[in-house]
Amino acid sequence: MILPLNEHGGPDSGPPITHDFSSNANPLGAPDEVMRAIQAANRQHYPDPDYRALREGLAQVLGIQPARVLPTAGSSEAIRRLTLAASLRGVRQVWVPQPGYGDYRAAALALGMDVQGYASGEALLSALTGQLGPSLVWLCEPCNPTGQSLPPSFWAALADIRHQGDVILVLDRAYEPLRLLGQDPVPTTLAHQCWQLCSPNKALGLTGVRAGYVIAPVDDVRIDGVSVQALAPSWVLSAEGVAMLQAWHQPGTQAWLARSREMLALWMSAQQTALTRLGWHCLPSVVPFMLARPSQPVNSLRSHGIKLRDATSFGLPGWVRLSAQAPHAQQALFQALAQMEIAR
Ligand SMILES: Cc1ncc(COP(=O)(O)O)c(C=O)c1O
Repeated sequence: MILPLNEHGGPDSGPPITHDFSSNANPLGAPDEVMRAIQAANRQHYPDPDYRALREGLAQVLGIQPARVLPTAGSSEAIRRLTLAASLRGVRQVWVPQPGYGDYRAAALALGMDVQGYASGEALLSALTGQLGPSLVWLCEPCNPTGQSLPPSFWAALADIRHQGDVILVLDRAYEPLRLLGQDPVPTTLAHQCWQLCSPNKALGLTGVRAGYVIAPVDDVRIDGVSVQALAPSWVLSAEGVAMLQAWHQPGTQAWLARSREMLALWMSAQQTALTRLGWHCLPSVVPFMLARPSQPVNSLRSHGIKLRDATSFGLPGWVRLSAQAPHAQQALFQALAQMEIAR
């Protein structure tokens, strides 16, 4: 028997999905330019095990030293690796956003570490100003599954106190490229003190390409002597992954992304308005996915080929997370909901 790992949105081993609202991947992906780069990737040879050209290219765009750029097989792999590094350094306590991406907790539990959830920025700040002890703290900005941002006041306060105690800060940037509203609230100086996780596959609608990169803090590419790079398997990133990351910062790719954000903002607003009219309680979000409490049971949507992300595993029974989808997919959702209402 194959036991399920962590619950995720997107494809699964269940019935076919025609309209997938459960994944946060950009439904408008992938741009032709990036697809061409991936198709042209040389699969006949190993990539450079040091990923020198990739790291230098990313570092140049980011304006940092190449040594600070660590290729990953996606942020899921980075989460495991950073947790392992923290554990090897003797950290036992891990702080995760609640609700938050389940892999932070799963990685810590797999290594027998203690996990504490924080439900708000204030709760985290008060823990950090107390006697916290060596800790690994996960921050997700904007956050999955809420799609919300912590306020600039939180980030300013965090920047002020970050030197207290023995705390490793990790900032997950998975959804920053898909921000539709407002601006990144994280001060640059604070970002440079954190381990930052970047996974462009979501914004590019290419989540099947398992590739990302970590930006190490400015002062140390190790965690107290533990090399995060040395914990990676050889060739952690495939040739396709290298091609995707090399295409990520190209002006054409970023222009495509800017256009797709405009479209996604329209889809998101139309979807939120329509669901609210149907009596759903939709929470505000700065990215193209949101948490919502349906006004009717939605379990049977899957038999209509529609998948939403049940939010029970986020500690939110009765809620779902759903991403903005194209008008035809929205129509299919509304029709299915109407049919289910008649059948009740
Ligand atoms: C907040 C967050 N971080 C990381 C990941 C994993 O990203 P990757 O596909 O790069 O492993 C996800 C995937 O859903 C996510 O939502």
